Amino acid sequence: MQAIDVAILVGSLRRESINRKLADALVRLAPENLRFRHVALDELPMYNGDLEANRPEAVNHFTRECARADAFLFVMPEFNRSLPAVLKNAIDWGSKPMDRNVWRDKPVAMTGTSPGAIGTAVGQQHLRQILGILGSSVLGGEAYVSFKPGLIDAAGDIAVEDTRVFLAAYMQRFSAFAARLVP
Ligand SMILES: Cc1cc2nc3c(=O)[nH]c(=O)nc-3n(C[C@H](O)[C@H](O)[C@H](O)COP(=O)(O)O)c2cc1C
Repeated sequence: MQAIDVAILVGSLRRESINRKLADALVRLAPENLRFRHVALDELPMYNGDLEANRPEAVNHFTRECARADAFLFVMPEFNRSLPAVLKNAIDWGSKPMDRNVWRDKPVAMTGTSPGAIGTAVGQQHLRQILGILGSSVLGGEAYVSFKPGLIDAAGDIAVEDTRVFLAAYMQRFSAFAARLVP
């Protein structure tokens, strides 16, 4: 099967982020043709059009790392029923200039976890809408995970059987979807 280079964007900067742990667990569940690498958001300044004339190296690095990806996996918490500002900021940088929008025509999967009962479902609606406007091909269906202690074990695996099966199936669908879209 064709190898697909997937950039993972985690929408949390926190060292103990449950979303980074979920992202790493997903890597272990995914089919082998998906080759993952993290793209960090930590160094990005807030978007400011005044910086466009001479983009900071952190921005150029970020957009280069995204532009060379075949596909994206977004894993994020929900902040006040939307996506975290750090992720929106990264998306904004990647969307400009319009003729170098790094998100266009790329297959995308998204998931996320929070302790709330509808773990990130509303935030994902916003993310889906933004990526649609930017021309990404977003995998249909939803994968949101309500975080409970013990969901991810000390080895970094999803310890709850039905959640593990569900997320493995989601990664399988992402693999098939991306394989159809990546030239
Ligand atoms: C500013 C802020 C807003 C939040 N809003 C929501 C929310 O709308 N829905 C939700 O389920 N959790 C919300 N949370 C709780 C986060 O889901 C929780 O802190 C989670 O652990 C953050 O993800 P991380 O561990 O990957 O950083 C919010 C947390 C913060 C700091």
